[in-house]
Amino acid sequence: MRKYNNENFNYALFGNPINHSKSPQIHDLFSKQTKILHIYKSINIPLNQFSLLVTYFFNNHIQGANVTSPFKKEAYYFSNKLSKRAQIAKSVNTLKKVDNQYILGDNTDGIGLLSDLNRLKFIKKNFSILILGAGGAVQGVLLSILSLGCSVYILNRTVSNAINLVNQFKQYGNIKIFEKDDLKNKFFDLVINGLSRNIQYNTSFIPLYLFSSETFFYDMNYGLENTSFLNWCLKINAKYVSDGIGMLVFQAAHSFLEWHGILPKTDYIIDILKKN
Ligand SMILES: NC(=O)c1ccc[n+]([C@@H]2O[C@H](COP(=O)([O-])OP(=O)(O)OC[C@H]3O[C@@H](n4cnc5c(N)ncnc54)[C@H](OP(=O)(O)O)[C@@H]3O)[C@@H](O)[C@H]2O)c1
Repeated sequence: MRKYNNENFNYALFGNPINHSKSPQIHDLFSKQTKILHIYKSINIPLNQFSLLVTYFFNNHIQGANVTSPFKKEAYYFSNKLSKRAQIAKSVNTLKKVDNQYILGDNTDGIGLLSDLNRLKFIKKNFSILILGAGGAVQGVLLSILSLGCSVYILNRTVSNAINLVNQFKQYGNIKIFEKDDLKNKFFDLVINGLSRNIQYNTSFIPLYLFSSETFFYDMNYGLENTSFLNWCLKINAKYVSDGIGMLVFQAAHSFLEWHGILPKTDYIIDILKKN
């Protein structure tokens, strides 16, 4: 096994790839703000070594970790106990060592997204929402969205993945596969993009009559430059658009809350990250 420096960090992000993650910067700002000793590093985990390496880290010096793509499902199975929301999502983005005895798995993506949508005033009860994608990120946020009484339509390249999500979540609210013909004379209040970065969108990939001039568009992806989804939104003259940097900060804040019992302030950190 590759040697890791055991002494100088106590929280981590596990993923692959991990090189451009902003999470260490966010957690460093939380640590400074709260004056809690919280040293957070990203660790690139080889694809077939999640369980081996994460066990090693928790047996040594790590107290908690975030988990990102492609390991959220493995983290779900790795956890000894689960929060209610992680149990329902079947996906874990936050691990915590409890009483030196067991690993608790949680998922803060849903509360992270909802907090940012509320900050932006992009969501209301009973909204009709189109969600693009059916991967780990969407799986993590559906419970929060459905809990607001919103109607959710899922559009995904691999229809069977979308069907699996509908089956997983239909007991928690109104969720369906997106089918154009079911939606005549209706429009979406909000579109959430949970597809991978850098997909190229053709202007007509969704019929434009499904949007009004007041539709909100939110991309879970983020970057200093506009994401390809946001460029598509601008091409179709969308008025209300946002990337997912706020979601990233809020989900991190809720992981910090799980680990340390304090919810850090977030607004000024979102502003910093938008500029750096
Ligand atoms: N802001 C935040 O805090 C936050 C949190 C979580 C995730 N994210 C971002 O959200 C994005 C999705 O993450 P994830 O964990 O859900 O990833 P994932 O599990 O790998 O899911 C990827 C999704 O993109 C679709 N997709 C991939 N390549 C495609 C292509 N060429 N054409 C059409 N569809 C394609 C997949 O469809 P198939 O089912 O057909 O493969 C699937 O729906 C990532 O970019 C991630 O960085 C942001």
